[in-house]
Amino acid sequence: MILHDSYGRSFPYLRLSLIQKCNLRCKYCYDGVHYPDTYLNLQEIQNLAKAWIAMGCKKVRLTGGEPTLRKDLPEIINIFAEAPEIKRICMTTNGVLLAKNAALWKQAGLQGVNISIDTLNDARFRELTQGGSLKKVLDGLYKACEVGFPFIKVNVVLWGNETLEELDAFVNLAKQTGVKVRYIELMETGYLTEEQKHTDKYVAAKRIRTELKERGFTQENGEELAGPQEIWKNQEGAQVGLIAPYDSYFCQTCNRLRVDSEGKLHLCLFGKQVVDLRPLLQNEEDNELLQATVSQALQEKPKQHHLIEHNHGANRTLYSVGG
Ligand code: 5AD
Ligand code: SF4
Repeated sequence: MILHDSYGRSFPYLRLSLIQKCNLRCKYCYDGVHYPDTYLNLQEIQNLAKAWIAMGCKKVRLTGGEPTLRKDLPEIINIFAEAPEIKRICMTTNGVLLAKNAALWKQAGLQGVNISIDTLNDARFRELTQGGSLKKVLDGLYKACEVGFPFIKVNVVLWGNETLEELDAFVNLAKQTGVKVRYIELMETGYLTEEQKHTDKYVAAKRIRTELKERGFTQENGEELAGPQEIWKNQEGAQVGLIAPYDSYFCQTCNRLRVDSEGKLHLCLFGKQVVDLRPLLQNEEDNELLQATVSQALQEKPKQHHLIEHNHGANRTLYSVGG
C-alpha cells in the first residue's frame, strides 16, 4: 500500500517529532512556553513505525524541538533502522550534543543529520540562539563528518541581510567539508507575539538565487525522495539547497507527513487539520485501524498552505512541531 492524497501526491516520508523541548532558544522559534513531557513512548513509536512501514514509508526524519534530548534516542533510531523497508533514517538537530554522541547514534543506525547553523559568526550565533556556542556545534559537525554519516546537511535560516553577507563563508564550508548547505526562508508560525515574529528579518529566497547565479551556481534536479527544495551546484562541487515555502510551486512536491511528539498527525505544517493517533497506538491490534485512519485523513490534506496570506494554520512554532 502506498499513501496518496486527493491531488495525486504520495507520502513515503515521515517526520516524527520526539520532544517539545530544546537546549537552545533561537529567536525565530523559541516561544517561551514550557511544554509538558507527554511524548510518545517506545512502544507507541514501535506501533506507529509498524503502521507507517505497512503504508509504504521509506524515509524517516526525527525532529523536535531538539530530538537529542530524548534519553532513549538510540532505541528510537533503531526501531526504524532495523526495518529493511526504511531506506533512510535522518535527524534534524541543533548539533549541541552531536560531538559527544555522533558515533553512538551512527551505531544505532542513523544515516544522516541536518544541523542548524544560521551563522558562522560567534557573536551572532550567541545572539540568535540566545546563549548557544558556535564552537560546540561546529565540533559536532566535524565529528559527524569524521564518523562518516553519508548524509550531512547544514540548515541556514535566512535571517536578515547578514545571511547574504555570509554566503561565501557557507559556500566555503560546503567545499571544505563536502556537506550540503541548505537555506530556508523564515516561515511565519503561530503563537508568537508580533515582536517574536521578527518580520523585519525576512529575506526572500530569490535574493539568494541572485547571489548564487552571480557566483556561477546552476540549478539541478533534486534527488528522489527529496521533496520541495531546489538544489544549486557550482563547478567545484559545492552544493547549496534552497527551501522557499513562500514560492507558489512549493506544495506540489510535498511528500511528507508529520506526527508530533504526542502522536498527532499534522496534514500540513501550516494547516488546521490535526488527527490524534495516540489512542490507536496503544495496542498492536489497532494497527489496521490506524492505517485506515491515516489513509482517510489524507483525503483532507490541503492542496497548499496559505502562508502568503499570513495564514499559518493551527501550528505552534517549530519548537513544538518539528521542522
Ligand atoms: N522558519 C524557518 N525555519 C525555521 N526553523 C525553525 N523555525 C523556523 C522558522 N520559523 C528551522 C530550524 C531548523 C529546522 C528544523 O527549521 O533552524 O534548522
Ligand atoms: Fe531549538 Fe531548533 Fe528551535 Fe533553535 S530552531 S530553538 S535549535 S528547536
